Amino acid sequence: MADHRILLLGPPGAGKGTQATRLTAEYDLDHITTGDALRQNKEMETEYGTPGEYMDAGELVPDPVVNEIVVAALEDADGFVLDGYPRNLDQAEFLSEETDLDHVVFLDVPEDVLVERLTGRRVCDDCGATYHVEFDRPEEAGVCDECGGELVQREDDTEDTVRERLRVYRENTEPVVEHYREEGTLVEVSGEGAPDDVFERLRDVIEG
Ligand code: AP5
Ligand code: MG
Ligand code: ZN
Repeated sequence: MADHRILLLGPPGAGKGTQATRLTAEYDLDHITTGDALRQNKEMETEYGTPGEYMDAGELVPDPVVNEIVVAALEDADGFVLDGYPRNLDQAEFLSEETDLDHVVFLDVPEDVLVERLTGRRVCDDCGATYHVEFDRPEEAGVCDECGGELVQREDDTEDTVRERLRVYRENTEPVVEHYREEGTLVEVSGEGAPDDVFERLRDVIEG
């Protein structure tokens, strides 16, 4: 059976990263995520400035920078979960020239839930594992269960920046969701409920 090529779409906080981590483990896929790649290179000098300047304001990093990340990652991957890309119609068109997709899934979560999830998110400074102060607590507050590292808040997870990211999402990324919907490839899945329940829904889509 061919490897799965999965695109996970959804607003900030929908659980793309949470579910991508599960999918990659379950189906032995690569996790291609522009957000993590950019965070690891926040200070990198490009002709547009550094990625961090855009990210900390909640704005999109210029297309050439993210397209390059995706091309390199796709070259190394057979099956993959793509998370955080494409985020505008130009990126979607670029992607369509680079690869076919087997599943395009939209994680649907209402906006008030998104703000709660994002402002309460904590991530491990060492291994990147994700927690939530209320919904997914570590055994010891502030300490990573996986590696003992320190849990920190992402710089763009403050309430004001979260609101701006949601605005940027509505303006740039909702048209991408609409594009796949019109194309007839979009499968919509509720992203509400416990992560395990959401994962079961995704499994049904992928194996269905
Ligand atoms: P990126 O890192 O991609 O952020 P995002 O799209 O805003 O999405 P998040 O990572 O915030 O949310 P998620 O859906 O992964 O949620 P998670 O699983 O962590 O991008 C960051 C920035 O990089 C952008 O703003 C931009 O500047 C730049 N960038 C990235 N890609 C780009 C591109 N292609 N073009 C241009 N610029 C780009 O879950 C969130 C929280 O909820 C966690 O605390 C988790 O524990 C909790 N949670 C998850 N699932 C559940 C559940 N079912 N129930 C309860 N809590 C849950
Ligand atoms: Mg994420
Ligand atoms: Zn850790």
